[in-house]
Amino acid sequence: MIHCEKGLFTLHTKHTTYQMKADAHGVLLHTYYGPRVEDCDLSYRIRYVDRGFSPVPEEAGKDRTFSLDVLPQEYSAAGMGDFRLPALDLELPNGSRTADLRFKSFRVEPGKYTLEGLPAFRGDETLVVILEDAAAGVEVELYYGVLEDCDVITRAVRLHNQGGQTVKIRQAASLCLDFQRGDLDLITFDGKHIQERSPNRGPLLPGVRSAESVRGSSSHQHNPFVILCDHDAGEDHGLCYGAMLLYSGNFQAAAERSQFENIRLTLGIHPWHFCWTLAPGEHFTTPEAALCCSKQGFSLLSHQLHRAIRERLLRDPWAGQPRPILINNWEATMFDFDAERLVNIAKSAASLGMELFVMDDGWFGKRSSDLAGLGDWAVNEEKLPGGLEALVPRIQALGMKFGLWIEPEMVNEDSELYRAHPDWVLQAPGRMVRSRQQLALDFSRKEVRNHIYDALKAVFSSAEISYVKWDVNRSLAAVWSAALLPDRQGEVYHRYVLGLYDMLEWMHRDFPHMLIEGCSGGGGRFDAGMLYYTPQIWCSDNTDAMDRLRIQYGTSFCYPVCTMGAHVSAVPNAQTGRSVSMQTRGVVAMHGTFGYEMDPAQITPEEREIILRQTAFFKEHQALLHQGDYYRLSDPFQNGPYTAWELVSPDQREALVSVVSGPIQGGPPCRSLRLKGLNPDFYYQVNGQGRYPGSALMEAGWPLPLPWGDYQSWQFYLTAL
Ligand code: DGJ
Repeated sequence: MIHCEKGLFTLHTKHTTYQMKADAHGVLLHTYYGPRVEDCDLSYRIRYVDRGFSPVPEEAGKDRTFSLDVLPQEYSAAGMGDFRLPALDLELPNGSRTADLRFKSFRVEPGKYTLEGLPAFRGDETLVVILEDAAAGVEVELYYGVLEDCDVITRAVRLHNQGGQTVKIRQAASLCLDFQRGDLDLITFDGKHIQERSPNRGPLLPGVRSAESVRGSSSHQHNPFVILCDHDAGEDHGLCYGAMLLYSGNFQAAAERSQFENIRLTLGIHPWHFCWTLAPGEHFTTPEAALCCSKQGFSLLSHQLHRAIRERLLRDPWAGQPRPILINNWEATMFDFDAERLVNIAKSAASLGMELFVMDDGWFGKRSSDLAGLGDWAVNEEKLPGGLEALVPRIQALGMKFGLWIEPEMVNEDSELYRAHPDWVLQAPGRMVRSRQQLALDFSRKEVRNHIYDALKAVFSSAEISYVKWDVNRSLAAVWSAALLPDRQGEVYHRYVLGLYDMLEWMHRDFPHMLIEGCSGGGGRFDAGMLYYTPQIWCSDNTDAMDRLRIQYGTSFCYPVCTMGAHVSAVPNAQTGRSVSMQTRGVVAMHGTFGYEMDPAQITPEEREIILRQTAFFKEHQALLHQGDYYRLSDPFQNGPYTAWELVSPDQREALVSVVSGPIQGGPPCRSLRLKGLNPDFYYQVNGQGRYPGSALMEAGWPLPLPWGDYQSWQFYLTAL
């Protein structure tokens, strides 16, 4: 719901309120964001205080209590006396770095805005507040989208050069959010390859703390999602705010606690190596950011974010659709396979209930190691005689669908493509930075995208391809585009991302039923921007079930189970050397888009039985696993004896509790697990037995079996009587 009255703009979702106000000088002040309150002008909270050394804009005259350095801004701009984090940094033709934004007008639109060429949530209503810098001739449209039921507010910014001179955008954040308090914790989700998205929490201290990427993609190292919360906020209590950026390139999420103990969060494209030239008449649109607020802790925050992603971001036909259980050959074969080996894997997989066979890296060009072949998207007929036309029907004859791996953005020097077009790489002249023996293609250029896409389209059209795994396996370095003039190189990273989204959009257009899974050496590009195009993303190259507990735990704060690619792989695990039972590997992997990544012909008869039970269980309960409300019942980083989590159906009639124990220690304690999200008035059966009040299961708990040996697991399936 949107209310606009005399320069006061209030957005309500079901349980939250967001408000801003244009003050007497036309400065748009942020007055409130938090739990829903009755309609009122919340600017009464703003304190006007004379602060030494805080500058005063000309029109405030001698009023030293009016300073942009102190007041809560809706969209902060650099250079006019607000010394905190800027959202906007403009370079004017005279070389000055000043932006002075004043309220001009507003409009309310039915339905939610979309952003051309960029991912965006679907929503209910739009408010556009228009600010202008009259001297610079720049208009800044602040877009707000309301997703009422999910308690999500989205934001994006569109700059329009209405003047007669070219200006440069040095920074344009998607979001600036000021809090009139200084006592908040910041949680960021950080890590590295094979150890992504570990939560890191700490109180904001004076100065700036940030999570950011300048790797060209959102990265394994930091995620474009952060939480700000009360110091004592936990899973079930406390005020918390989630902020995500729908963007897959360089980003910066920065939180500053300023001198007077206020907090500012900015989130957007990273300003490093960013400079967008805006000629007269041109527009620039930032990526979308989304905000969510819960006054009941992280569980509710996650439920709302999960719902928004599932229902308002993922696109048809895969939003809400059951995902096939897949078998991927990568860990079983690496590059060393031929058609017979693949068909044999598929045969055993089909007999175990798996539904989709995915041929990973190595099927094209001269690709028998990572030294060669990227860029040559034609089937390697030495490995696969007769091409996909011959292979795919053999897989389909087993009752399975077929999918394949691609890495369109990359090229090996040892490839026909590179030999023909060495100038198509994204590489500064005289520089060469390889990573995994590959170079990045200049996806900012349409002719490059066209060439790659034409080749891929021919492959996709040669047989029935139901699924594609879109991988990218390096960070960008020594970035430079031959297609951009020297003073336009600051646009290259963003144009690369726009090019990526553009090609993904072509895939949606031409192959609307294809399921696309994102990947970047596992979870190096796991962000809401990619999820708009690829409804599932390979969560991590680390398939060790115990490590996955942590990776999936961290990922779950923002992203729902149905987006996390998770597979059972062989033991000892290829990344850690650890051996965990088939039972436990399955319990962990089914809390994702379930699959296997091994040669099922190599397993014992007992393991076959377990897999048969797992695939049947997943098919029966996929709706609960993928659409249920997710509760983190314990924190795997605390090294407690158990890691536990739970899914509850929206009608509370079904729940699944999963528990995994860690390394065994003699004399383990007898523990009860207090369940969450059940209906206290319902009675439940647990694994088909008994009659237990929901209130008892939640307040008194459920006794856990004593572990015997390392890494055990149990599942308790609850149904309301
Ligand atoms: C990295 C991915 O994360 C793996 O799953 C696999 O597809 C390899 N790339 C193939 O090169």
